[in-house]
This record gives sequence, C-alpha cells and structure tokens, in this order.
Amino acid sequence: MSVSLSSRHRSDVVARLRAAGCVFAEDEARLLISAALTPGDLAAMVDRRAAGLPLEHVIGWAEFCGLRIAVDPGVFVPRRRTEFLVEQAVALVRATAGAPVHPAAGGLVRHSAGAPARPAAGPPPVVVDLCCGSGAVGAAIAAALGRTELHAADIDPAAVACARRNLAAVGGRVYEGDLYEPLPATLRARVDVLAANVPYVPTEEVGLLPPEARTHEPLLALDGGTDGLDVLRRVAAAAPRWLAPGGHLLSETSERQAPRAAEAVAASGLTPRVAASDERNATVIIGTMATLAGPVGRAADG
Ligand SMILES: C[S@@+](CC[C@H](N)C(=O)[O-])C[C@H]1O[C@@H](n2cnc3c(N)ncnc32)[C@H](O)[C@@H]1O
Repeated sequence: MSVSLSSRHRSDVVARLRAAGCVFAEDEARLLISAALTPGDLAAMVDRRAAGLPLEHVIGWAEFCGLRIAVDPGVFVPRRRTEFLVEQAVALVRATAGAPVHPAAGGLVRHSAGAPARPAAGPPPVVVDLCCGSGAVGAAIAAALGRTELHAADIDPAAVACARRNLAAVGGRVYEGDLYEPLPATLRARVDVLAANVPYVPTEEVGLLPPEARTHEPLLALDGGTDGLDVLRRVAAAAPRWLAPGGHLLSETSERQAPRAAEAVAASGLTPRVAASDERNATVIIGTMATLAGPVGRAADG
C-alpha cells in the first residue's frame, strides 16, 4: 500500500494536518500516505483526520507493544501508557515460574524490566482480558508469553467484533457481556492474570478529555462513575472467584486514584500493590490472590 506523492503534495498534506491542530503532522502524514491506496483515498483520510477523527480510526490500526492492533471506528484506541500494564502482567507470569519471589509490600514499586521466562513445560498461563476493547492488552500479553490460554470479554458488540479479529491469531476466545458474566464457569479459580483496563475517568472529568476521545470513543469506555472507580470496584469484588491461587488482577488508574483503588482491591481480599512508571505516566493496581501456602503476593521487581 501507499500512494506516491510529489514532495509538494506531501508538504500540502503536512500543512493541512498542522492547520487542523495535529502536533505530529509530519509523522501522521507519513502514516496516512502509507495507508492510502489511491490519491482519492488519501484525500478522504486527510479530511477525516482534519475533522478530528483519531488517527488510529482513520488508518484502522494502532501500534501497541510493537503490534499492529486493528481498531474499528467507535472502539477505544489502546493507549501507549497501557503497555506498562502489559509489562507488569508478563513479568508476574514469568516470576511465578522461577524468579526470586518478594513479598508484596503494598507500597509503590517503580518499574524495572527482566525476569526469567516461564518454562515451556506445564500448562500455559491462563490470561483473561476483561473490558478488552480491541483486545490489545490480551494480544500483547499473549505475544510476549508465547504459550497462553487467552480469554477476553467486553460489553460492547463493536469492541467484541474488533477483539475477535485481533485475537484470532493467538487463539483467544472473546465473549460479549457485562464483566465476568459471559466467561465460562470452567475459568473459575484458574486465572493467572486478570488484566482489566476498565473505564476510570471520573464522570465530571469526561468533558475535559480531548475532543478525539470525547467525540469518537464510546462514553462506556471512558466513564468510570463519580470517582472513576465504579467498574474497578465491581471487577475487584468478584476477582477472587476467578483468580487461581497466586493469580493477579491488574488494572490501570490515575496516580490520584491509586490509594482508593488499592483499598478496593484490599477489600476484596487480594493483596494490593501499586506499580508506577514516571516515564510512561502510568499507574497500575495489582491485586494478588493468596497462594495455597499463605497470603504471599509476588512482585516481579523491587
Ligand atoms: C478504557 S477501555 C479499555 C479497552 C482495552 N482494555 C484497552 O486497554 O485498549 C474500557 C472498555 O471497557 C468496556 N466496558 C465498560 N463497561 C463494561 C462492562 N460493564 N462489562 C464489560 N466491558 C465493559 C468498554 O466497552 C471498553 O471497551
């Protein structure tokens, strides 16, 4: 794909995008030009982008953890900061299989990379991507771990259709419904990683989001209720029924919400910990289920 353009026409595209307020106009122009099949196609794409449609909805995909994730119109665009949640999930699975284990401190753990790989023998880790949207989180965890039994669910039919396409290659099964309701009962007490990037914007702050999100992403994907933690509270309350001993719930929040989110996780009986990355501007609440031997949480770092 990609249309061939004179340098003048290319500059026109950049100028149009810049005038529409696109900060990374040069990069966006390159992506649009490489995605367009014909000059007419390119003109239509530039129009849609200049009118405020998210770039990812215009070109049809988003880059996430080095993967190209299909993102249909009306489906939440995976954010790069959520790559931190994926890294934490992957590190926890790897640590479970042989890295030195540290008790969960309940405090702030700064990001560090690296843990031994899970051995190839034994059953694959069971991963659930709850509130999966496009399925980006599940796809990235599965891509990093290799052998994975992956399940994903979302209440929005558009998201479910999109996730089914993204997760087909890794054999992921995608269900439609409210939180855990559509998951097979056979998953109970078997889930090693429950990744739930739920909506967490406080209702009153939805109006402050950039227009791209406000206008082109569903409210259902953004609005987390009065303090932004309504969905997380529901997810945390039921998580112990689904997690395997030593399994982990991971959920992104803002830095400000982290203490209350940790309280919600603790109230469900999981051992909470907060992981944060300044570099990625990301905060993740991790709730760990007690192992059969005792209430020991595991941290991949620190
Ligand atoms: C913030 S988006 C995250 C999507 C995806 N996990 C990601 O990181 O790109 C939240 C998603 O939660 C879904 N959602 C909201 N309420 C839900 C519910 N009660 N049950 C299942 N999914 C829900 C929305 O449809 C949306 O796709």
